[in-house]
Amino acid sequence: MCGIVGYSGPQNAIIPVLEGLTRLEYRGYDSAGVSYLVNNEIQIIKKEGKIDNLKAEIKNKNPFSHTAIGHTRWATHGAVNELNAHPHTNETFSIVHNGIIENASEIKEDLQKEGFKFKSDTDSEVFLVLLTKYFLQTKSVKDSISLAMKLIRGNSAFVMMMKDSTSLYAVKRGAPLVAGNNPAKKEIYLSSDPYALIGFAENIYFPEDEVICELNRTDKDIEVKFFELSGQKSERYKAQAKKMSLDVANKGEHEHFMLKEIYEQPGLIKNLYEYYLNQEGRQLLTKITKYKPDFIHIIGCGTAWHAGLVIKNFFEEQNKVRVNVELASEFRYRNPILKKNDIGIFISQSGETADTLASCDLCIEEKVTALSIVNVEGSTLYRNCAENFLIKAGLEIGVASTKAFTMQVLTGYLMSLSMAGKLEAKKVQKEFDLLADNIKQVLSRTTEIKAIADAVYNKKGFIFTGRGIYFPIALEGALKLKEIAYVHAEGYAAGELKHGPIALIDQHMVNISIVGPELHEKALSNTEEVKSRRGLIIGIGDEKDKKLKGVSDYYFGMNLEGLDHLRPVLVNISMQLFAYYVAKLKGTDIDKPRNLAKSVTVE
Ligand code: G6P
Repeated sequence: MCGIVGYSGPQNAIIPVLEGLTRLEYRGYDSAGVSYLVNNEIQIIKKEGKIDNLKAEIKNKNPFSHTAIGHTRWATHGAVNELNAHPHTNETFSIVHNGIIENASEIKEDLQKEGFKFKSDTDSEVFLVLLTKYFLQTKSVKDSISLAMKLIRGNSAFVMMMKDSTSLYAVKRGAPLVAGNNPAKKEIYLSSDPYALIGFAENIYFPEDEVICELNRTDKDIEVKFFELSGQKSERYKAQAKKMSLDVANKGEHEHFMLKEIYEQPGLIKNLYEYYLNQEGRQLLTKITKYKPDFIHIIGCGTAWHAGLVIKNFFEEQNKVRVNVELASEFRYRNPILKKNDIGIFISQSGETADTLASCDLCIEEKVTALSIVNVEGSTLYRNCAENFLIKAGLEIGVASTKAFTMQVLTGYLMSLSMAGKLEAKKVQKEFDLLADNIKQVLSRTTEIKAIADAVYNKKGFIFTGRGIYFPIALEGALKLKEIAYVHAEGYAAGELKHGPIALIDQHMVNISIVGPELHEKALSNTEEVKSRRGLIIGIGDEKDKKLKGVSDYYFGMNLEGLDHLRPVLVNISMQLFAYYVAKLKGTDIDKPRNLAKSVTVE
């Protein structure tokens, strides 16, 4: 979602701002812009589309400035065009915004009645105009920010600069924001993501909600200060001086990050058990044994929700505890019954998904213990939860999540085993090793998957089906395909087909039928039903399953033996590859699919 970078320092500010924005590019955006000071006046360059368009324009104009802010926009209010792209600027301020001002239209109406003019259709400009209005009254930037923040509703982060000043300001509510500095180089930074600042900022600060960040710079000195909206100094921030390594993204031998990330999975699985079976991870896992919940709420969005649906089976079977898996966007608004002895498990790759964070807050308010299964250490979710079970997937650049799903499921598996007191190191190691080896085998058979993709990629629609533990894989397989190949795909519980979707079946429809050894006969007969209606069957199952192979037009069998609970993870790898190769044939932008964002920081 929207990316923000701000810089003030001795070097040309455009360089770190553009570098930061480029690092955040993977999160998804549709336009980009920078504003900067020249002779104390605010200048601005904005472009629709890729950052390369902005870079080309910058190269053309070749600006030099010591203070700049930049933004990649993922449209929420107002069409994708240059006018609506950020920064939004007037003669005094320039601002960038990530989030949504929910009461923007009411405020805008009032401001227009007062005579204020607007240039764009965005909610963000409302903040700019408010800031300007209050600054005319108070002559204090901090007071103006505070008054504007008190008026607006919704989750947002703002970074601001002004004419005649080398200071930067920022504030947030329910959206990610970090400040940074490099004392030796006399540089100050702001961003929506610490990843943009790695290698630049020596210290990174995580302000809490409604804390105003004031970053000042002169040639001799820099300062990073925090204030409450009341104007008092604030201690509500965390500082991180620890060097973060830049897990720099390169695709290696692969054409896309998504493919690279799919191939990383066997190695990551080994790292995961090494982490959790060694001291630090083991201690963490042991902590979960102190919880004897009556009820577990597992919450996530998108792929993380699918991982939760798999994990539910582990907890129910191994711990005999009731588990509900919910979409964060639903959970947060439906007054769920939350009791003190429940636990909430929040699954998120980024740890910044707005709905997941709000659901977590809701649980914490109701004294429900919040645990996370998260990839990004230091993310908002990570900071809010009582315990964090890191999935150790490394940076995931591809917008369509692949390795994070695998690692989320496996982390949940370890948590469940540990809670049940059934975690046997040797057994887990053996299972994970077998899984990693079998994944490698699947990865060596891409020619077969490519051939299937080639045969079906132009078909009208794709219905993925599975029963039991394969149902979430059907959902995830369909999600992957629609995300990156832009084709219509649905995931269905195989037993539900005849309650509606079977009406769609004809010779132009493809049924990706996932049939494992569990509920084999039932799932097979659902496949037969599709076959009888001339649907094209891609069978996905055990390599020895002659019956499924017999019914299938195309078959991809894997060695599922000995994997037991982890079979869905292996099966899912073939779904990831299938989606990838269909998308390649369709010629889509695989790593950055249209309209999608890697980290959804608005609801
Ligand atoms: C976005 C991404 C998905 C991801 C979902 C949840 O929609 O495109 O890949 O599954 O958000 O993200 P999270 O970071 O919370 O796992």
